Amino acid sequence: MIHFEYFDTIDSTNNELKRRGNSSPEFTVVSAGQQTGGRGRSGHVWKSPSHDSVATSMIMYPNVPIECVPRITTAAAMAVASAVESLYPLKTEIKWPNDILISHKKICGILTEMIPEKGKVKYVIVGIGVNVHQTSFPSDIKDIATSLDLELGGRMAKRRDVMEKIWERFMVYYDLFLKTHDLSGFLDEYNGRLVNKERPVKVLDPQGHYDGISHGVDETGRLMVERDGKIVYVDAGEVSVRGFYGYV
Ligand code: BTN
Repeated sequence: MIHFEYFDTIDSTNNELKRRGNSSPEFTVVSAGQQTGGRGRSGHVWKSPSHDSVATSMIMYPNVPIECVPRITTAAAMAVASAVESLYPLKTEIKWPNDILISHKKICGILTEMIPEKGKVKYVIVGIGVNVHQTSFPSDIKDIATSLDLELGGRMAKRRDVMEKIWERFMVYYDLFLKTHDLSGFLDEYNGRLVNKERPVKVLDPQGHYDGISHGVDETGRLMVERDGKIVYVDAGEVSVRGFYGYV
């Protein structure tokens, strides 16, 4: 069902699937040894140094309302967390909405892109980057990033195993998402992994920052933040949150 392709070098695995438009069979996965133009969220650059990380993307054609598409990123976050834990003796956590952490440092980033057509979803590309063999990071991210090998204490992780296990797990969470178009099928598991649950958070709302206590997410993926005794539902597209403890 999943069709895997591998490139030694490519600009971006998301770009490669996008170039093909909707000509790729559903669940085609493109992975690369290195990306020369890897992209992160909010227009950031995503560095995938030579053969040190997993850079992988999948295309899908979900028949769901456009506003439900960001929840696919949450399914991908669940897949990465559960794949890493099933392969290695490591404990992962999720920083809302979609960062995977080990020891409170980021191990993985996810970039989901949706191409619409006539008000509907034409296709969705989920791109996942995992730090695997890096032993150091550029100074701007060295305090907030880690790799599987750093956490395992040696060159132990295998990029191919990580990539394959992530997509195997993704199919499980994606199927659950398709049943309800939301997170209901894995909500308890997601909240169980959430690092910023029952913790103080600072909500970086463009209309004004505020402090509150996070009580986890609801089935639509919104963070429920207690502010002055009331619950505020925070949408990932609108704001981000910071805890009061390192990167988290
Ligand atoms: C983030 O900003 O945290 C998201 C980073 C996503 C990086 C992955 S690597 C594979 C895929 N190809 C890209 O160009 N980006 C994503």
